[in-house]
Amino acid sequence: MSYTFDKVFTAFSTQEEVFEETLRPIFGDVLNGYESTIFAYGQTGTGKTYTMEGDLSKSEMHGVIPRSAAAIFSSLEEGELYKEYCVRCSYLEIYNEELADLLLPGESELDNKKGTKLEIMMGGKNGPYCRGLSEKVVKSPEDIIEIMRLAQQHRQIGETKMNKASSRSHCIFTLKVKAKKVLKDGSGELEFNGKLHLVDLAGSECAKSAAGHGSSEVTRERERMNINRSLLTLGRVISMLKEQSESSKKTNVRIPYRDSKLTRILQESLGGRCKTVIIATLSPSVSAIEESISTLNYAQAANGIINKW
Ligand SMILES: Nc1ncnc2c1ncn2[C@@H]1O[C@H](COP(=O)(O)OP(=O)(O)O)[C@@H](O)[C@H]1O
Ligand SMILES: [Mg+2]
Repeated sequence: MSYTFDKVFTAFSTQEEVFEETLRPIFGDVLNGYESTIFAYGQTGTGKTYTMEGDLSKSEMHGVIPRSAAAIFSSLEEGELYKEYCVRCSYLEIYNEELADLLLPGESELDNKKGTKLEIMMGGKNGPYCRGLSEKVVKSPEDIIEIMRLAQQHRQIGETKMNKASSRSHCIFTLKVKAKKVLKDGSGELEFNGKLHLVDLAGSECAKSAAGHGSSEVTRERERMNINRSLLTLGRVISMLKEQSESSKKTNVRIPYRDSKLTRILQESLGGRCKTVIIATLSPSVSAIEESISTLNYAQAANGIINKW
């Protein structure tokens, strides 16, 4: 069996190499007003969170999120190309098809407190969005690191309450950049809104069965019904987009974005005019071979989707 990917990293690859070779090429798009998404997909324990966040206390160990923030700020501040920019971020967690705001603990659905109920709304010229999700204005890459530290704490508090559910939840960190760009020919300025979603997905083993987790029959049943609808739907959406891009005719099949919250919120990134990167993480262990093959198949299916408009 052989697979073809754009890049392959080894256990000795550094965080910097992963960032430079996967993320750097799509920055230009975000700073031109497009929406881009990076997913980390793989079995629990294979390095998804390490890839996305890394160790925040050492700069050389920073993962994709802090590096993206630093790169965006350095582009915005370099030269005279960008004016009046504003960078905001949000951090959404989807667990069991429920939404939680990682920047505002205790006001999520998970705690059943009556804060603003988070809800995915369709519409607006910028596509689907999550109503009630807080956004923080950030002025520097250090601000983002501070925000991520807080979010990590919130996630840990949640984890004990949710019976260590982090391997079963999806986390979407979004950076929004609004700025004016000076046109090269000197004819004026262009205002744009770029978005970068950095997604740490639930462990891929959860896509198969949620059996064995959860403390009671009721919980288990609910998990079987719900917990990884997002991961399964993402797989279906990816394979349908792939089929569509391989078919010579423009077909009118309904892509099931609406079947899960993850795919609804990321609809524009998956099927719209944007670039998406999937980082598939694997375990080197022989005992994980089945999971590793399934991860490779998933990533292979996603590779080569070209959306037609
Ligand atoms: N490339 C790597 N180099 C060094 N340590 C890593 C690497 N990838 C993962 N780890 C470590 O392995 C453990 C599991 O990684 P983690 O990112 O939490 O996995 P996941 O999020 O996929 O469940 C963590 O302790 C992490 O620091
Ligand atoms: Mg993780």
